[in-house]
Amino acid sequence: MIEFSDNLKRLLPEARKVAVLTGAGISAESGLATFRGADGIWKKFRPEELASFEAFQRNPQLVWDWYQHRRQILKQARPNPGHFALAALERFYPEFTLITQNVDGLHHRAGSRNVLELHGNIRYNKCIVCGRRTDREEFNSNAVTPACDCGGKLRPDVVWFGEFLPEKVLNAAYLAAQTCQLFFAIGTSAIVQPAASLPLVARQCGAYLVEINLEGTEISGMVDETLTGSAGTILLGLVEYLGLTVESVESK
Ligand code: OAD
Repeated sequence: MIEFSDNLKRLLPEARKVAVLTGAGISAESGLATFRGADGIWKKFRPEELASFEAFQRNPQLVWDWYQHRRQILKQARPNPGHFALAALERFYPEFTLITQNVDGLHHRAGSRNVLELHGNIRYNKCIVCGRRTDREEFNSNAVTPACDCGGKLRPDVVWFGEFLPEKVLNAAYLAAQTCQLFFAIGTSAIVQPAASLPLVARQCGAYLVEINLEGTEISGMVDETLTGSAGTILLGLVEYLGLTVESVESK
């Protein structure tokens, strides 16, 4: 059994409004690479060559192929106990907002419903001309950037470097951070803004801030409590403390 502080043991059953920010670390136990660890994606590739609009204009095939490759990896991946534990927490709390920087869609597949995807979702494409979003399977072909009905090129519906986050999603995330009593920052290096500011906003507005990570991060010195270890193990510990049932059945 994992030891939690007295504060957390009191707040866990008492809290009514809970918010969570997840990063690539929550999906590491599903076999997906993080961005900045030793084997991180940005250790092997340069983001400005793969994840920017300029890169897409310069070499659409390269960018398309990279996203197709990641989509293939994702087809083999499954949600892990950390994802399922978060879905169990959502069923328990009257208000629960799951804010994620991940584009992998694994929270939805684990049964989470109130999910704010700050950086989009790799499953979808959108037209660079009319902006229409689609998840039509035929557009996930290896042909370079297939055309939208309007004739525009399709690109993955994810936020690239230098782009704004979807405004409504970001506003909803700030609102959740400002109004929650308990906030968990899980598996994120807390480097990329504006996502990284959400835990601190929550704390400034009175929430008890808990970080779950394998190691220290940019915000470790500013949190109320650090739980060091793998997200899956610690989240299962939280769920067990609350006596909740985890349903490990994937939803489509
Ligand atoms: P990072 O790769 O920057 O950080 C992953 C964090 O997860 C690190 O702090 C690890 O220590 C931690 N970690 C790894 N495995 C873990 C585990 N099993 N349990 C708990 N923690 C673990 O990923 P993010 O913070 O998500 O943006 O990166 C933020 C953004 O940078 C991404 O959304 C992406 C990237 O560029 C865009 O693509 C716009």
